[in-house]
Amino acid sequence: TLNIAVLISGRGSNLQSIIDNVESGYIPNACVSVVISDKRDAYGLVRAMNHGINAVFIDPAVYESKKHFENALLEVLEKFSTDVLLLAGFMRILGSNLIKAYNNRVMNIHPALLPSFKGLHAQKQALEYGVKISGCTVHFVDEGMDSGPIILQKSVPVLDSDTEDSLSERILAQEHIIFPEAVKLFAEGRLDVKGRRVHIL
Ligand code: GAR
Repeated sequence: TLNIAVLISGRGSNLQSIIDNVESGYIPNACVSVVISDKRDAYGLVRAMNHGINAVFIDPAVYESKKHFENALLEVLEKFSTDVLLLAGFMRILGSNLIKAYNNRVMNIHPALLPSFKGLHAQKQALEYGVKISGCTVHFVDEGMDSGPIILQKSVPVLDSDTEDSLSERILAQEHIIFPEAVKLFAEGRLDVKGRRVHIL
């Protein structure tokens, strides 16, 4: 079985979509082994416990540097024999040791069509820019911010009546589809990374 670890910082609706698609068998031969949060009160930790999944809070405040925090994270990942690490609303940039250790095995979901609107509040950035189409992206994580090889993208229209909330909701519905789809492709060994391009076998 593929051991999936999920990193979160909050609500965890993308985590839920991964759990549901593992439980239904859509993502084959896989198990969510551990959910790790950098926020003590992240609701995603409750979701994990509701499904009998190990829920771990790693408090960044107790580590003297980013590197020490990263080492603590690595320890938990190793303890649960992690094969793939999913960033599902995790609001920090991972350090290079972790990225090297899990090269092409860390995936992130971002609420915009990368390379547009990297970083925080991507949906607000899209509205302010005035684009007519936005969407979401699943990509492998490299050492940059929202910059690794793109696995899947899905577009949604931006409507004149949209607020940050309404656009975020429309994008989120697509996130819940493409993130499990990308993990399924990974689980099936069908993602072939060639430089920046990810070919689907
Ligand atoms: C999602 O929209 C995700 O794409 C976004 O945070 C939200 C988390 O929701 N991630 C980022 O903005 C990463 N920079 P969730 O906790 O319900 O999955």
